[in-house]
Amino acid sequence: MNSYRIAVIPGDGTGPEVMREGLKALKALAERCGLDFRFKEFLLGGEAYLKEGILLPTGVIKELKEMDAVYLGAIGHPDVKPGILERDVLLKLRFELDLYINLRPVVLFPGVQSPLREKGPEHIDFVVVRENTEGLYAGGGAFFKKGTPDEIAVQESVNTRKGVERCVRYAFEFCRRRNKKKHLTLCGKTNVLVYESDLWYRVFQEVGADYPDIETGYQNVDALCMWMIKNPEFFDVIVTNNMFGDIITDVGAIIQGGLGIAAGANINPEGVSMFEPIGGSAPKYAGLNKINPMAAIAAAQMMVDHIGEKEASEVLLKAIKAVLKKDLKSLEAGRMGFTTQEVGDLVAGRIRE
Ligand code: IPM
Ligand code: MN
Repeated sequence: MNSYRIAVIPGDGTGPEVMREGLKALKALAERCGLDFRFKEFLLGGEAYLKEGILLPTGVIKELKEMDAVYLGAIGHPDVKPGILERDVLLKLRFELDLYINLRPVVLFPGVQSPLREKGPEHIDFVVVRENTEGLYAGGGAFFKKGTPDEIAVQESVNTRKGVERCVRYAFEFCRRRNKKKHLTLCGKTNVLVYESDLWYRVFQEVGADYPDIETGYQNVDALCMWMIKNPEFFDVIVTNNMFGDIITDVGAIIQGGLGIAAGANINPEGVSMFEPIGGSAPKYAGLNKINPMAAIAAAQMMVDHIGEKEASEVLLKAIKAVLKKDLKSLEAGRMGFTTQEVGDLVAGRIRE
């Protein structure tokens, strides 16, 4: 029996309740497919910080590196000043584990209504490869004359040749493996960011020379946002920097039905990877048993696929699709026709079928 050690970080807000349903699905899957998942829970996030001043201890990072995968709910707490938990827990996890790819599929499943009224599953099926360790997220900055009329705020974006190249190369490889349209779009802003986007553009051209089977294109980020809404069927794989990737994947999430279904993988191709619903902690829904756990369950599916259990990943994907198509009335919290727990039960039931 294949055995896997999985770190579970439920985190804040609705994180713990959606993770409970993700774990329920994983346990049903383990039974059905004969897998052994060994879960170890780590209490990180707002509560741990407020009660014990704990952010992300070095010992925890070391332990996580020994795991087969990390499964994360959400980090973010209304009583903690913005920036602390994000930078010192979530982003620190991404940086310390060198999770340099943030893979975010934008797929409209059958039965789910996109707010784009003319678009169906045949139109919305692409993947964003977001660089996850550099750019504006990694740069320094400073205030000068803070609080005065002469105040200056500088925020730097860091882009290394190595960092850009490994991300771009991953995107080409991924596009080849995905084997759909074999079309890779670079998203940047070459007309304004004449240093950063220039480096990305040059690396994209150079690396692209190794992939004659992949058709390439370039779009500025503003135009790309418009295209994602007007013509999402144009896209196959998009590669972009950390900040643009953050923004365009929220656009992606809404066109695929909302944060209730949007999942992502933070990948270190040479090490341990981390899987999370991309929606955040949604504090106003915390503890109400109303939030949609599908994004967390979809993140679990990406995790199962990533560790190499392809058959189990197919079973879970089929279960997710069945529940989306036949059971849920909507993906929105409180409008699903079921509670958070019941959605988890439905998925587990489909897995056992
Ligand atoms: C995301 C989130 C994070 C990000 C925040 C919480 C730091 O928005 O995963 O997309 O900006 O990457
Ligand atoms: Mn985001």
